[in-house]
Amino acid sequence: MTEQVPVRGGSGWTIALVVSAVIAVVAIAGTWFVMSQQRTGVPDDTPAPTEEYGRRLIAQTSWLMGPDHPEPARRFTGNRLNCASCHLDAGRSPGTLSLLETFDKYPRFSGRDGKDADLKERIDGCMERSMNGRKLARDSVEMDAMVAYLQSISEQWVATSLSRRVVVEPPSLRLPSRAADLVNGKAVYEDRCRVCHGRDGEGLFASPDTRRGYVLPPLWGDDTFNNGAGMGRVITAARFIKARMPLGRADLTDDQAYDVAAFINSRPRPRMSQEVLDRDYPDRATKPVDSPYGPWADPFPADQHRFGPFGPIEAHYKKK
Ligand code: HEC
Ligand code: HEC
Repeated sequence: MTEQVPVRGGSGWTIALVVSAVIAVVAIAGTWFVMSQQRTGVPDDTPAPTEEYGRRLIAQTSWLMGPDHPEPARRFTGNRLNCASCHLDAGRSPGTLSLLETFDKYPRFSGRDGKDADLKERIDGCMERSMNGRKLARDSVEMDAMVAYLQSISEQWVATSLSRRVVVEPPSLRLPSRAADLVNGKAVYEDRCRVCHGRDGEGLFASPDTRRGYVLPPLWGDDTFNNGAGMGRVITAARFIKARMPLGRADLTDDQAYDVAAFINSRPRPRMSQEVLDRDYPDRATKPVDSPYGPWADPFPADQHRFGPFGPIEAHYKKK
């Protein structure tokens, strides 16, 4: 029931009505302002080289520096994955592809670069390959923020790890000595992966606004890691899958993980320029046996580098 507005009472009522109307307008305008800020994310997204911004860059990469960023200068990644699509819990989940112990490992020798690489160069490796994007400037806010974050999680980890250094993962992959079986890999995919990653590996967007990226990331197609990425190597992918997938219930056998990794990597994905890939591993003998792209310094066919068996290739290099 609405109250009857008294018709009498003079200017006092008029003032009260005007005041409440003004309050209402201010309140609505205020709400609209706050919501529009949230929509464009202005206050949150002002880049600063802090640990917190670094954490967000790794967790919400697509939103903060993805291909749909409203400012073209801040579109650094070429796909809508987040770093955390592979580095689970923004790199804080201990175990395979954890970033908890990364900071102290760099600089270190990189066979791919043929020289020592520091942490910034390593991050750019994932920017150009896993994220199919471009390098960040070395002194950019984004780069400094991610390095600050990796330093901070590694310090926290060192300070507290003794009490919780238990990694809850199945035993690590023992590589089958045969070539991967793509038919079986497809069957594993259909049975165990498709429910989340989609009928055609396309994943599932978090919202109709593609800038928000995926809740379930794509495994092949145009919007995922390219053929130069670590995940494009069957052994690397099989190790990750055995340790982590299906998410929340990693229970595949070595054979299943190996076959499904090969199946995923037999599907089309973005390609890096072969001219760039040609410069990888200047000492070809250090090139991983499962590097899916040439050139190689051995007589084995391309398909064997992609899908195994890897034993003979390993033996070939050991003999040298
Ligand atoms: C598609 C999966 C994937 C995505 C997405 C991804 N990475 Fe990686 N990243 C990997 C793999 C695989 C490796 C390890 C490769 C190897 O075996 O050398 C790695 C290694 C790294 C390392 C070195 C870790 C260490 O301890 O040596 C850093 C640092 C890193 N990634 C940062 C990032 C950042 C930052 C992003 C986002 C901009 C990102 N990655 C996105 C797959 C991914
Ligand atoms: C319950 C849903 C679910 C199932 C089932 C599942 N995944 Fe995933 N997968 C995810 C999520 C979610 C991520 C991203 C991690 C995150 O956001 O925390 C992911 C990430 C990945 C990634 C790295 C990111 C990328 O886009 O390449 C690979 C590779 C992968 N999954 C492979 C598999 C394979 C192979 C299977 C089947 C054996 C599988 N997944 C089953 C949910 C699932």
